[in-house]
Amino acid sequence: MSKLVRFGVSLEQGLLEKFDRLTKEKSYTCRSEAFRDLIRQELIQKQWQSGHEIAGAITLIYDHHKRELVNKLMDIQHAFGGMIISSQHVHLDHNNCLEIIAVKGSPKEAQKLSDSLKSVKGVKHGTLSMSTTGKNI
Ligand code: NI
Repeated sequence: MSKLVRFGVSLEQGLLEKFDRLTKEKSYTCRSEAFRDLIRQELIQKQWQSGHEIAGAITLIYDHHKRELVNKLMDIQHAFGGMIISSQHVHLDHNNCLEIIAVKGSPKEAQKLSDSLKSVKGVKHGTLSMSTTGKNI
């Protein structure tokens, strides 16, 4: 872990009050941790835009009764096999399945994989959670 450095930040009172409310709502124990997370979030977004190696998770919810849909999702995942680290399938209820696909690699490819999966007819909801391995930040 790198050395901690203290520095002062000047803010308008109104902005600080909003920041404190946000910090409380998000259950941060102190301003510093909330501030660190904001910075990390910005850096991660930059990394996703700049083409470095990223890590993330794609979450999908779909009706497993639609067999054609399940086959399509499998075909797409096989085509992007190199970047999929693992996947987890949860049978949510009688109709719905939840799939969580962990990915690592190029951000463009991760976005492409996510878009391909989400656009399959019958996928009820899909998200791409953008994270990072910490390299190049
Ligand atoms: Ni299932």
